[in-house]
Amino acid sequence: MSEHNNDTDKGEKAEKSNEEATNSSSEQEEVEDSDMEKIRKYLAQKLRLVESSDYDEQSQQKVLREVSIDGIVDYIKQNENCKIVTMAGAGISTSAGIPDFRSPSSGLYHNLEKYNLPHPQAIFELDFFMENPEPFFTLAKELLPEGFKPTPCHYFIRLLWEKGLLLRHYTQNIDTLERMAGLPPEKLVEAHGTFYTGRCLKCRAPYMLSWMKEKIIEGLVPKCEECNEGVVKPDIVFFGEMLPDRFHFLADRDFAQADLLIIMGSSLVVQPFASLVDRVRPTCPRLLINKEKVGMQDRLSRLLGLRHGLIFDTRNSHGGRDVAWLGDCDTGCHLLAEKLGWGEELKDLVEKEHERLDSESASKD
Ligand code: OAD
Repeated sequence: MSEHNNDTDKGEKAEKSNEEATNSSSEQEEVEDSDMEKIRKYLAQKLRLVESSDYDEQSQQKVLREVSIDGIVDYIKQNENCKIVTMAGAGISTSAGIPDFRSPSSGLYHNLEKYNLPHPQAIFELDFFMENPEPFFTLAKELLPEGFKPTPCHYFIRLLWEKGLLLRHYTQNIDTLERMAGLPPEKLVEAHGTFYTGRCLKCRAPYMLSWMKEKIIEGLVPKCEECNEGVVKPDIVFFGEMLPDRFHFLADRDFAQADLLIIMGSSLVVQPFASLVDRVRPTCPRLLINKEKVGMQDRLSRLLGLRHGLIFDTRNSHGGRDVAWLGDCDTGCHLLAEKLGWGEELKDLVEKEHERLDSESASKD
């Protein structure tokens, strides 16, 4: 996996002191945009990126009655067999008590001082892990998928499946909460792997979470009992490792077929996952439910026609297909469910499933 910098929508965030300033800055932007557009078109032609121009034009087609969550709701209601692909990141599990990675102060990468890492991400880097697996397993003790319950957002995804609308759910999360929420394995792509299984790095002998968990809880680095040499690493995709074949195989099929993409709780900065948003058809609406806007196209990739990204353009309220609903994932999912007429069903499902998980864990104690 590699990372690129995520652009922030500075234009959106900037406080505009008076109308004159607003007008002159938007005029300036328009001039810059039209210059950029000319250069982009020139490069696209020269580099034979004609598809890219078509893509831009098609993505501006009016596919939603209005570019808002209500427009998305209408779109789903009108498409009886709407094929929905969902993409998720750590933000869908924060309300379960699992920290995300990059949120200021609460994110995992801001709380790793005690491990003396060369840099925060080293804890998930294969080279570093081979040299020094202790920090990862110390952290794993805190992150073990134990005692956490899926959130309303997880159950909303399950509801999409129950309604026959879910083509596939792609998750970057390793917390196994989607499985726990009852999403069937064939509907799930765990793009960054899972804690559920593990493997010896030397002889590749397979292990299950229950075996690894015992060692991790005792504060031990799990060592292979077959070859007595290798460290057993959970099947989480570390930086420096390939994503599972299943990810590549299904992404090639699913995104081209999707009628709607819903992205929830991710900063969309880790590749190749982040670029999946570009793989739906140019007329496929994309709904982002997140605390902040993410995944927008940066100017250089736009100039070169390389990466499209999400386009939340307020000047484009007549057309376009990308909707950002900013706020908490659970609130966004409850709202969406409510507007689709499934509000009570979602509440009941969460309540019933949480009761079941509570009684299961009480009977284990
Ligand atoms: P990040 O921590 O990068 O991003 C989480 C996003 O969710 C941020 O935009 C938050 O603002 C938002 N967020 C947090 N809580 C939320 C809530 N309750 N409601 C709505 N939005 C919320 O997490 P990911 O994008 O998942 O890789 O990170 C991607 C990958 O980076 C991870 O899979 C991990 C990490 O390196 C590995 O571990 C290999």
